[in-house]
Amino acid sequence: MAIEEICEKIIDETNAVRAKYQADYAGDPDAELLAWLQIAVQREAMVCYLYNEATRNKRLAESEGEVVEVTRDALTLIWQQEQSHAAELAARLIDGVFMDRKGSLDAAFLKIRGTLDATMLDLLTQDRGGVLSVFAKAATWVAAKFAPNIVPAFATELPRANLRGFFVLARALEQTARDSYARIGQILPAIVLKSSSLQPQGLLKPIRNTELDELFHQRVFGEMASWLDSDGAFVAGLEAKTCLRKLREILVTTTGIQQYRGRAVPMVYTDGGLGDLFAKHNIKIEVERAAA
Ligand SMILES: [Fe+2]
Ligand SMILES: [Fe+2]
Repeated sequence: MAIEEICEKIIDETNAVRAKYQADYAGDPDAELLAWLQIAVQREAMVCYLYNEATRNKRLAESEGEVVEVTRDALTLIWQQEQSHAAELAARLIDGVFMDRKGSLDAAFLKIRGTLDATMLDLLTQDRGGVLSVFAKAATWVAAKFAPNIVPAFATELPRANLRGFFVLARALEQTARDSYARIGQILPAIVLKSSSLQPQGLLKPIRNTELDELFHQRVFGEMASWLDSDGAFVAGLEAKTCLRKLREILVTTTGIQQYRGRAVPMVYTDGGLGDLFAKHNIKIEVERAAA
């Protein structure tokens, strides 16, 4: 099975999960939010681990050149942003949304944390068979969550995937992350309305920005996949300047604030984690100040 085909199935299955959650939890937004949180927290933790491992990919470690450096920087910075998603947003969601609804939900929180710990422990204690082997195992875990029927294909196909395959799969994971945050953003307003706490209200914007981050990541991974040939080697003759211009364009078209898109220094809702990369190459971006 081609990696593109596997990705299509992951996305199809994620859509099916979304439809099922909407039906199963109709009229109970708290329960649906918790279900999505569980997936979101696990996924953030997992991509942190995967992207960190990927930065040590042989192809990236041993290749030289400006495009390789841009790729390595982008991957490292996205990894850092995923860490902040995992650490801050997940905790803030759990505490912020449910802080005035103790009791019956405590068990659900424990379950979220417990599952997360077990997943990470499992990943971290895997035999080290190289980045792609670890990635294959983690991807198998994702598939088991979203697409149980394709796990055997994952298990056999992914160890042969190369860096290009990794980016193609990362693009699919980012798309499912974006879709999850989009759904969380749809559920939150109903919770805001009935909550006596101001916390859920304060989450609307961070959730929207995180959704934009994931959309940006999705398109960045798609772009970086195009910098590699089918053998996973960097395409000859590619210039860093062109690559950076493309990343900037993706940022502006995904997280840019509409009325400022045409400015020499565009204003964006979020830098998608790549602010330091743009700064390093003297590409100016203005990020909207966080709402107080
Ligand atoms: Fe994330
Ligand atoms: Fe992401």
